[in-house]
Amino acid sequence: MTTSIVPTKQITSIRTNRGSYWITTFGCQMNKADSERMSGILQKMGYQLAEEELKADLILYNTCTIRDNAEQKVYSYLGRQARRKKLDPHLKIIIAGCLAQQEGETLLRRVPEIDLVMGPQHANRLETLLNQVDNGHQVLATDEQHIYEDITTARRESDICAWVNIIYGCNERCTYCVVPSVRGKEQSRTPQAIKNEIEKLARIGYKEITLLGQNIDAYGRDFKAYEYNQSGQLTLSYLLEYIHDIEGIERIRFATSHPRYFTKELINVCAKLPKVCEHFHIPFQSGSNQILKKMARGYTIESYKEIINYIKKLMPEASITSDAIVAFPGETKDQFQETLSIIKDIKFDLVNTAAYSPRPNTPAALWPNQLSEEIKIERLKEINNLVEKTAKERNFRYKYSSQEILIENINSKNNSQLMGRTRTNRLTFFPRSSNNGKSYKPGEKVNIKINEIRPFSLTGEVI
Ligand code: SAH
Ligand code: SF4
Ligand code: F3S
Repeated sequence: MTTSIVPTKQITSIRTNRGSYWITTFGCQMNKADSERMSGILQKMGYQLAEEELKADLILYNTCTIRDNAEQKVYSYLGRQARRKKLDPHLKIIIAGCLAQQEGETLLRRVPEIDLVMGPQHANRLETLLNQVDNGHQVLATDEQHIYEDITTARRESDICAWVNIIYGCNERCTYCVVPSVRGKEQSRTPQAIKNEIEKLARIGYKEITLLGQNIDAYGRDFKAYEYNQSGQLTLSYLLEYIHDIEGIERIRFATSHPRYFTKELINVCAKLPKVCEHFHIPFQSGSNQILKKMARGYTIESYKEIINYIKKLMPEASITSDAIVAFPGETKDQFQETLSIIKDIKFDLVNTAAYSPRPNTPAALWPNQLSEEIKIERLKEINNLVEKTAKERNFRYKYSSQEILIENINSKNNSQLMGRTRTNRLTFFPRSSNNGKSYKPGEKVNIKINEIRPFSLTGEVI
């Protein structure tokens, strides 16, 4: 779970000066991508990025509710702004994203200082909703929406790597998860709209795109009949081929994949297409088939392993990352051990871990066999130690190897270094200028010899 702030970049066109804005994003890449689009809308409307949060005329919190701690974090931030509004009634407070959708009117009642509560499906409608606020209304926008094709220009965090949504929402019903109830039904964008967006990005210098969706490999299934491939079905494999050759784009990634929809055909296509990077984020959630069944995940750990083995067969260098939940209701010690075993067995490059958190409107939250906080903390600690150890062991394969790095930025913690990622998504740092005096800049690809490895990043030098 991260909190991010959309940083400064030059404003392209200003209609009128409406004051300053600040966006804080909680949650996943989906929220970050939504924030970038909302930031673009605010700038188009004439708002300028504030220098600091507590001086902004408009505050937008793009919220997350995946676990209870994500939710509580939003409330603590919000309390601070509500107090500020008592002193400055002109301050506009917007609560967007998944918590906004979950709580809706309750949020307005709980914090009456809020001007606008808007669910994630309304992100592209921010201008219309803000106009209603400017007309003196307190606005609640949480009804089911057909997401408008993106007419805005996003204000993106990076000039090199861009996120491109291809499917919104989630049609699964994992028994622990709040996402389907807050993000709504799946809505795939058309291949043409996606291609147009990527072509535009390529024209302004973007080099890498990450296609985004909750279950990206379910892309296209909401289109009933499509004339795109022989089976009449629109798929992620088709889409990857369709966008692959866009000039200027050098790397293509996608996330998050659901094991139920990850096909051999998709793996074949990834292995074949040179721009598609060898990194796959495929959450397994639990190593126990009984728990997977209770989670309603729709696959077994054997079928999961089959996918991973096929990826490794075709792309031996590929990195595999995942998500896992510990202390799901009723999880026994043995079942927890099965989760640890799969991590040892597969040797993931990274696993995002979390202790199960009961969420509103989800079946598992009502089950009587909830585990104690002590067990949650204990299991989380144990799994995290293993994940760190495994990640470091996996990183040994990089030592003294040559890796192709796409330079993204200057290292914010050490400005004599540049940062970028390997094709396999490992964060890599190296000196800005090499021994022969040549210096490098974001957007360039360089070959780096890796000298130092840590669990989650690498350091090296230009070859
Ligand atoms: N669509 C993706 C995951 C999206 S949510 C998938 O199906 O894999 C991101 C991660 O949050 C999940 O993979 C899961 O590990 C975690 N998560 C979701 N709900 C949770 C809950 N109630 N408690 C703890 N972790 C949860
Ligand atoms: Fe949540 Fe499951 Fe949908 Fe992933 S697939 S977002 S875990 S309901
Ligand atoms: Fe959080 Fe919503 Fe993403 S609940 S993890 S921001 S889909």
